[in-house]
Amino acid sequence: MPEADASAKDKQYHLERPQATDGFFLKGAGSYDWGMKNRLARTFDPRSGRTVMLAVDHGYFQGPTTGLERIDLSIVPLIPYCDALFCTRGILRSLVPPAETKPMVLRASGGPSVLKELSNEEIAMDMEDALRLNACGVGVQVFIGGEFETRSVHNLTKLVDLGVRHGMPVMAVTAVGKDMKRDAQYFRLACRICAELGAHYVKTYFVDEDFETVTASCPVPIVMAGGKKLPELDALRMAHGAVQGGAAGVDMGRNIFQSDAPAAMIQAVRAVVHDHLKPEHALDLYRTLEQQLASG
Ligand code: 5RP
Repeated sequence: MPEADASAKDKQYHLERPQATDGFFLKGAGSYDWGMKNRLARTFDPRSGRTVMLAVDHGYFQGPTTGLERIDLSIVPLIPYCDALFCTRGILRSLVPPAETKPMVLRASGGPSVLKELSNEEIAMDMEDALRLNACGVGVQVFIGGEFETRSVHNLTKLVDLGVRHGMPVMAVTAVGKDMKRDAQYFRLACRICAELGAHYVKTYFVDEDFETVTASCPVPIVMAGGKKLPELDALRMAHGAVQGGAAGVDMGRNIFQSDAPAAMIQAVRAVVHDHLKPEHALDLYRTLEQQLASG
């Protein structure tokens, strides 16, 4: 049971005083080695301190997801608009042109399909292969509260050991089971555990209430997970809420590639994340770009 964390009010999050980032622009990364910092600086834009990662790894457990049936046609044209692509090594090798210089963050855990218990994952990639593929990071699912919680936590810690050895950042992805409550109390618990165990950044979901306590109590950057497809304005509001609440960007999939105009949507998300655009203005941008794309 999550500590006596029921009341965020009794905790000392010091929201008025952001964590110092001495020596490097990213939270918690000041004492990392050069290669680790360089990979992070390619994934997160040093000018804004934020990232727009495009998540297209869904096939690793659910096959040809809607919008990802033909990644060569739907996703490759979007790569210029993202700061980093989150994908599997299979998709990278088979469909992403090697001349593409955007940083690649590789899904490194897997095992069960949607037909089985999802928390029963193992490490599904050798760190040597991530290095061979010139990856800028690896991602691993962590199922706090899930049936195979300990196994998934050990997947994270093993990858962190290898990542530290080779200068490869590890992104922990906080997975939410069907029956798990999605609130700030749960995400504070999950994100903090991932950071304590060595994750270099954490992907987690946005919650309307007290999201800033999730970011404040996590000593490494948080990137917002997208989740199921929402109307464009709602997705832009969520991204805006997350970065205003202290997230260092987003790692969004379906809310971009399942949009009616994915190229317009990713540019609207960028405007929210990097240029501080309000969601309503970003929606105007989305509509303008959507029309241009339709007529061009
Ligand atoms: C699940 C994942 C997914 O594989 C994917 O990255 C999710 O992206 P989105 O929810 O934005 O479609 O990490 O936790």
